[in-house]
Amino acid sequence: MAPGARPLLLLAVWTLAALARRGSGEAGDGGAAEEQRCAVERRADLSYSEFVQHYAFSRPVILQGLTDNSRFRALCSRERLLASFGDTVVRLSTANTYSYRKVDLPFQEYVEHLLHPQDPTSLGNDTLYFFGDNNFSEWASLFQHYSPPPFSLLGTTIAYSFGIAGAGSGVPFHWHGPGFSEVIYGRKVLYFPDRWWHATLNLDTSVFISTFLG
Ligand SMILES: *[C@@H]1O[C@H](CO)[C@@H](O)[C@H](O)[C@H]1NC(C)=O
Ligand SMILES: *[C@@H]1O[C@H](CO)[C@@H](O)[C@H](O)[C@H]1NC(C)=O
Repeated sequence: MAPGARPLLLLAVWTLAALARRGSGEAGDGGAAEEQRCAVERRADLSYSEFVQHYAFSRPVILQGLTDNSRFRALCSRERLLASFGDTVVRLSTANTYSYRKVDLPFQEYVEHLLHPQDPTSLGNDTLYFFGDNNFSEWASLFQHYSPPPFSLLGTTIAYSFGIAGAGSGVPFHWHGPGFSEVIYGRKVLYFPDRWWHATLNLDTSVFISTFLG
């Protein structure tokens, strides 16, 4: 099967994780080595026509100030998620590029036993990761508060993938269809065009949601 045809896995590029680490709140304190090394363009107040013309079909972009997900963010604290979804069974995937192994576990067990910083030498196929495979009826009370990026592509529908992962976790280089990835404790949204190669590294425990346009 072509990589782009798979329901897919993760993303959120190390640059975005780096932004998230410094993101949460304090604006423009400068000196962010990671941000200075980030070659992906950033745009605030991008219009839809500019998005379509310059990025949608050709290159990634980091979008700022697109939506206000502060309510969703508040609902995604560890305490709130455990209180609402602790007993809910989640489906975990291994973190290699194509996810083969799946494990079902109560959310609370995932958070308490598996959501810890990863040993940097551990392999993706040995890491269990909560991303995608979401049961949208069980999580509806949370997802209804998420405002997706307002830019769509003609003829596509949106599909969410929600996940939480420990520091040091990630996914090796891969690609898939276009969409957006938002780090919930950051303030920025990454747009990734169709078949854009990327990898992911979560620098801290991360909560993220992707909107795939398919
Ligand atoms: C992960 O991959 C390594 C190297 O290919 C292999 O030795 C190991 O058995 C794999 N682990 C699992 C759980 O499949
Ligand atoms: C989603 O959760 C509901 C309620 O627990 C359950 O009935 C349903 O089978 C689940 N769907 C999938 C695809 O697992």
